[in-house]
Amino acid sequence: MKAGIVYTSRTGNTERIARALASAFRLEAVPVEQAPDPETFDLLLLGSGVYNGLPDSPMLPYLKRCRRQKIGLFLTMGADPARSRALQRTAELLDQCDIVTTFSCQGRYTSRRIEEMKRRPSTSPHAWTPEKAARVAEAQKHPNEIDLARALETFRPLLDLPGNGS
Ligand SMILES: Cc1cc2nc3c(=O)[nH]c(=O)nc-3n(C[C@H](O)[C@H](O)[C@H](O)COP(=O)(O)O)c2cc1C
Repeated sequence: MKAGIVYTSRTGNTERIARALASAFRLEAVPVEQAPDPETFDLLLLGSGVYNGLPDSPMLPYLKRCRRQKIGLFLTMGADPARSRALQRTAELLDQCDIVTTFSCQGRYTSRRIEEMKRRPSTSPHAWTPEKAARVAEAQKHPNEIDLARALETFRPLLDLPGNGS
């Protein structure tokens, strides 16, 4: 079985997860711009940060090209993963694939993005509130070592197979 990791990461959060998976399971982690055709893989681990509720734009055309592969999906996001629909929305873009495992965790925002969020008018549905401030403060602590360990445990049953070298 040929497995690989294809990811996109603006600020390095998702890349940290991709690198931890690559190192633990001896896989190649390739930025999506350099990724070979999805058909090359039997099992693809796809990773991205969440932007406007979806994977980042460089990943979207690649998702469309995936057909029939087994997919493991990992996302990092500012939102609380338990309340986010991003995994579900991404899965809908991969409707011709078999999504076998998913993982998500929070990932820190850039300070520029936080400043933008703070400037939103109080009438906006996305206004800066004490709840939002607390959620963003939590995001700034991620991904942490616990997230990396959880990611490895999540994907281990898929990848810790005889002949996979790990
Ligand atoms: C411009 C911008 C837009 C973002 N939009 C969202 C969003 O819609 N939902 C969300 O949960 N997080 C959002 N985030 C937070 C990112 O998803 C989070 O920081 C993620 O870990 C970034 O991953 P990356 O560095 O691998 O790209 C946004 C961050 C930025 C900078």
